[in-house]
Amino acid sequence: MLPVLKSLSKIKVLLLENIAPSAIDTLKSYGINKITQHKGSYSNKELKIIIKDYHVLGIRSRTHLSGEVLNAANKFSTIGCFCIGTNQVDLVAARELGVPVFNAPYSNTRSVAELAICHIISLFRQISVKHLAILAGVWDKSANGCYEIRGKTLGIVGYGHIGKQLGAIAESLGMNVFYYDTLRQLSLGNAKALKSLKELLKISDVVSLHVPDNDSTKNMITRQELAIMKKGSYLINLSRGSVVSIDDLSLALESKHIAGAALDVFPAEPDSKEISFDCLLNNTPNVILTPHIAGSTEEAQVDIGQDVANKLANFLMSGSTIDAVNFARLNVPPIKNCMRFIHIHKNMPGMLTKINDVFSSLKVNILGQYLQTHDDIGYGVIDADVKSNSSRLAIKEALRSIKHTVRSYSIY
Ligand code: NAI
Repeated sequence: MLPVLKSLSKIKVLLLENIAPSAIDTLKSYGINKITQHKGSYSNKELKIIIKDYHVLGIRSRTHLSGEVLNAANKFSTIGCFCIGTNQVDLVAARELGVPVFNAPYSNTRSVAELAICHIISLFRQISVKHLAILAGVWDKSANGCYEIRGKTLGIVGYGHIGKQLGAIAESLGMNVFYYDTLRQLSLGNAKALKSLKELLKISDVVSLHVPDNDSTKNMITRQELAIMKKGSYLINLSRGSVVSIDDLSLALESKHIAGAALDVFPAEPDSKEISFDCLLNNTPNVILTPHIAGSTEEAQVDIGQDVANKLANFLMSGSTIDAVNFARLNVPPIKNCMRFIHIHKNMPGMLTKINDVFSSLKVNILGQYLQTHDDIGYGVIDADVKSNSSRLAIKEALRSIKHTVRSYSIY
């Protein structure tokens, strides 16, 4: 365990939107104790006043951080998005202000993979059909159209974090696993890579989509792709709503070419439960619809809390930005027998020389130096042999006075 840094004890953290207690426990384990919590979110107007007091802000998906809000903060150091996405933050504005943003993109991987397994079994066993029948008072014990998943072929589109876990679990349940990914991936277990989406669609008894939302995946599954899928096969989409054409899927289900589908994501999703949701597939048999909950489990929340808090603490303790989503990525070692200076500046020629001049003019020995750039911002981390507080303050002031400096501070 490294000694608690003096600069950490000054850090003030504001956590909004009922962030999991695991985040607070984690921050405290690093000696970050000045933590204020607020159950809800704040309006932009309120935030502009409130965040002036804090160095760190933790949010989930309901708090929108515009450039205007971020510009109102004067001692802001970093933002933690205790969720998967970071669309709610103006990432460019944050970078230009020298503020790295962290999130937890993979904390709910297992939760999504498990729901996919649940959907595969439910579709093969017609669970939604049986459930609706029994609610209507019909005791339908028929085995018609109900199958085991053992020995069936699962086609995974997007063999990333979720796709790989799903494949491994499905294989342990006796399924044959194939996948298609635009990147070369290492197969887990006996999973086999196929060269094209078409090949995968042709052979799969169930296709499960786990791709990101990008130009290549927009409307990836339309009438043409559904027609290539095996007659009587199933489709699962727990990835993004833009990937599947709901109109075309509805027609394929009506014609019974596709025997069932499970969707957790939709092209347009309501912002809150007060807004009603209508989907073309609301009344289609053997269709399971869920409100974007594939990753929503208690375990995922705990993991998100720990993951983001660890990333924030790592940044605050060492200046490491390796996990930031909007910033020059630097993986720096823990501070040892030195003081560390952070210098965030406009990415321009000659900045490193000016930084070094500060140390040489003050006759201070540099022990280590790291620099990385991202678009318009340069990020420098300098370890120096500084023993006194007065020397630390002199260096900090001199670094801050360099032209084109965005922010500069010390960790000690
Ligand atoms: P990942 O980034 O680990 O994996 C995505 C994979 O898709 C990568 O291997 C990538 O190379 C591949 N890919 C990209 N474009 C492709 C294309 N055109 N064709 C085939 N493969 C392509 O992402 P992860 O964590 O596995 O997540 C997958 C999806 O699941 C994402 O869209 C994510 O937003 C979504 N998701 C949904 C949740 C929910 O609650 N429904 C929760 C968590 C993630």
